[in-house]
Amino acid sequence: MDNIKASNKIFSIEDAKKLSKKRLPKLVYDFIDGASGDEKLSEINSFALDQIRLEPRVLRNVEERKLKKNILGFNYDYPFGFAPMGMTNLSWPGADSMLAKESARNNIPTCVSMASTTTLEKMYELSEGHSWLQLYIFQDEAFVMELLDRAEKTGYEVAILTVDVPVLSRRTRDDKNGFSYPFKIGPKQFFDFATHPVWSISTLLNGIPKPMNYETSKSGKGIFKRKESRGKTDWETLKRVRNKWKGKLIVKGVMSSDDAVKIKEMGADAIQVSNHGGRQLDSASAAINILPFIREAVGNNFPIIFDSGIRSGSDIVRSLALGADFSMIGRPVMYAMGADGASGLRRIVDIIKEETSTTLGLVGLNDINEVSSDIIEQKLFMNTTY
Ligand SMILES: Cc1cc2nc3c(=O)[nH]c(=O)nc-3n(C[C@H](O)[C@H](O)[C@H](O)COP(=O)(O)O)c2cc1C
Repeated sequence: MDNIKASNKIFSIEDAKKLSKKRLPKLVYDFIDGASGDEKLSEINSFALDQIRLEPRVLRNVEERKLKKNILGFNYDYPFGFAPMGMTNLSWPGADSMLAKESARNNIPTCVSMASTTTLEKMYELSEGHSWLQLYIFQDEAFVMELLDRAEKTGYEVAILTVDVPVLSRRTRDDKNGFSYPFKIGPKQFFDFATHPVWSISTLLNGIPKPMNYETSKSGKGIFKRKESRGKTDWETLKRVRNKWKGKLIVKGVMSSDDAVKIKEMGADAIQVSNHGGRQLDSASAAINILPFIREAVGNNFPIIFDSGIRSGSDIVRSLALGADFSMIGRPVMYAMGADGASGLRRIVDIIKEETSTTLGLVGLNDINEVSSDIIEQKLFMNTTY
């Protein structure tokens, strides 16, 4: 009953965010919501998306609207998926399987983080094959190669190499809250958990979330150290991953046109323009403002996926108008599950689908594949830069 009531209170991502703030321990909410340094970039990402105004068009028959998108040769029912996020089960017990099942229900991709709290094999099964695997290269590259072998054997067809964390940024809120892995529970954390009993008891009953791809490493090479340096990752690393992985390869965390062109030349199948939701270089630009430059640099036919700051269906349409082929959503799905588990997630996904469809109709289009920069209000377009 409580579940039904909570979901009924969600009409926007902002509603889900507020509800999750109430339900989750501070340490967990801050891990999800937090960003790096002064945390401004996370807001700037969404603010910059807001600055892009679309032009309403009238007297066009928009009765039928198609949202289906093809990316990397795969047909999906909507132009968005779930971004990779580590330690997802912290947002609510069973969060990984909620994401997997929701991606299967909607025929959209879900990106499984290397630091996922469910094994990549289980995620593939639960998502009925809708999973893409995301990897970081740590000091021990052998573990990454082992995961690529496991992914291939399982049936994965898409791998994502995240390259924007050569150094883990300073996350002030995590430091203040004493967020670490393995979790350390001192008096402060104990009080935080004790004052959020529903989350704490369900988490205890379901087992403390662990990075399960590491826990199941057969070679014993997978030892999860969140703060371990990834600084040695370079172009040679990309070459080795490209040689190893025969499926589609996406390089995530690209914010420079020069890098994008080089990544394309090195044989990646797509890039993901992203500033990690403002969680890495805090003085970087808003990802949406860089997207058109990267599109221009790589040309029209090279697939670009976009994330960072998407908070509505209009934001998805905006990102497509500025050159993306597909978008990924990060924190909003974590807020949704923190607010109300699987029902919260379903509610938010349905809201985003509806908003995307409505926006499409209001700019006078019938098919998401027709979205281009023509729908942007040119008279006022972007006089703000970040
Ligand atoms: C809690 C959390 C954990 C994340 N973990 C990962 C990760 O393991 N791998 C990765 O490539 N990106 C990770 N990201 C970044 C997201 O994939 C994505 O780039 C970002 O959240 C998008 O911005 P948004 O949250 O504003 O939508 C994480 C983001 C959050 C919020």
